[in-house]
Amino acid sequence: MLKPVGLSMVLLVAATTLPAQSLPPDSLFDRLIGNCGLFGFDWKNRFAEFGILIGEKDAWGHGYGTDAARLILRFGFDELNLNRVWLRVYDFNPRAGRAYKKAGYVQEGIYRQALYREGAYHDIHVMSVLRDEWQAQRSG
Ligand SMILES: CC(C)(COP(=O)(O)OP(=O)(O)OC[C@H]1O[C@@H](n2cnc3c(N)ncnc32)[C@H](O)[C@@H]1OP(=O)(O)O)[C@@H](O)C(=O)NCCC(=O)NCCS
Repeated sequence: MLKPVGLSMVLLVAATTLPAQSLPPDSLFDRLIGNCGLFGFDWKNRFAEFGILIGEKDAWGHGYGTDAARLILRFGFDELNLNRVWLRVYDFNPRAGRAYKKAGYVQEGIYRQALYREGAYHDIHVMSVLRDEWQAQRSG
C-alpha cells in the first residue's frame, strides 16, 4: 500500500509489498531503512525525477530498492499522471543501475565526467521510463 508523506514515500512501506518468504529472518518491518520519492516536478511537460537512499546497509540487496522504484513509478504514472520519470546515477554505482534496470528504467544518455569526486571525474548516467513503456511492461 502506498503511504504518501508529502510527495515522498516511506521505503519501509514499499517493503511490505514483497512476499513474506523473501524477507530476511529478522524482518525489517519495524524500522525505517531509507526513503525515496519524486522531485523536480514539471507539470507542463509531466515529468519528475526519482531519488532513493537506503541508508541501512544490511537492507541492501534484498530487492527493496527495486520494489520501491517500481512502486514510485506506479504512483507517478497512475496517480500523478506523469509521462516520464527520470533519474541520475553515478557510474560507480552499478548496484543502483541494476536495480533501476530491473524496475524498468532504460539508459537515455550520459553526462560525461560531470562529477568530480575524490580526485577523479565520473560520468553521470541518465535513465528514464516513459508512460508508454510502463504500460507495455505491465500488460506484457
Ligand atoms: C541503490 C539502492 C537503492 C539499491 O537498492 P537495493 O535494495 O540494494 O537493490 P536490489 O536488491 O533491489 O537490487 C540490486 C541489484 O544489483 C545487483 N548488484 C549488487 N551489487 C552489484 C555490483 N557491484 N554490480 C552489479 N550489480 C550489482 C544485485 O545483485 C541486484 O541484482 P539482481 O537482483 O539481478 O541480483 C540501495 O542499495 C541504496 O540506497 N544504496 C545507497 C544509496 C544509493 O546508492 N542511492 C542511489 C543513488 S542514484
